[in-house]
Amino acid sequence: MPSHAAQPAPSLNWGKLLRTMQEVRDSAFMEEMMGRRKASGSASPMGRTDAALLYALTRWGRPGVAVETGGFLGMASSFILKAIHDEAVKDAVLWSIESMEGIEQGCLIPREIKGPFRPLHGKVEDFMKRGLPDMIDLFLHDSSHRYKHMLREFDFFFRRLRPGGLLISHDVNMNAAFTDFVTKTYRHDKIGQTDPARTTHAVWGRLGNLGFVVKS
Ligand SMILES: C[S@@+](CC[C@H](N)C(=O)[O-])C[C@H]1O[C@@H](n2cnc3c(N)ncnc32)[C@H](O)[C@@H]1O
Repeated sequence: MPSHAAQPAPSLNWGKLLRTMQEVRDSAFMEEMMGRRKASGSASPMGRTDAALLYALTRWGRPGVAVETGGFLGMASSFILKAIHDEAVKDAVLWSIESMEGIEQGCLIPREIKGPFRPLHGKVEDFMKRGLPDMIDLFLHDSSHRYKHMLREFDFFFRRLRPGGLLISHDVNMNAAFTDFVTKTYRHDKIGQTDPARTTHAVWGRLGNLGFVVKS
């Protein structure tokens, strides 16, 4: 499946990112989602700051093909889908992988933005062996936060990201997987300056419990 993004992403504007975060934090959509989460009894740890950053990054990245793991009831999915909706990304899809039985995956997602949502039921490890897009624009990790599992997802999906694509991880505070991964995507030359030919990230950051890397 091809990536739909027509243009390489522009460089990240941190000021604009923070303004977009603030706008969505103050929005009726944020209140609606917090209300939906409470009413469902969901224990999703995706709080306001993490959700706002996820939304702002997705607006910046304008993904045509997005993949998330640990979709659960759809708190994170909703903020990805809202950003895709607000950017009017044509023909976008969000593949959402969830292994838990007996839940209605994505049930928190408001109907008006649910069009691009594609739930996949099963373990991400099994989907890695078959049936995922070869080229993606945005990846969100939010499944098992075991160190080895996180690194395995990062390695697998980073390879499938197009240049300028976004790798995002929730709960980067839980262990060193995200920082170790970022370390692996950086190389310097003999005099200690960044070697752009061997450095595979353009920019990365962390705020709240969300980390992100833009592939160069
Ligand atoms: C922290 S919750 C996800 C919260 C969700 N993203 C949200 O915003 O509400 C983690 C989810 O990952 C799922 N999960 C854990 N290991 C998984 C795996 N190997 N493959 C797919 N899903 C997995 C769990 O069933 C659980 O629902």
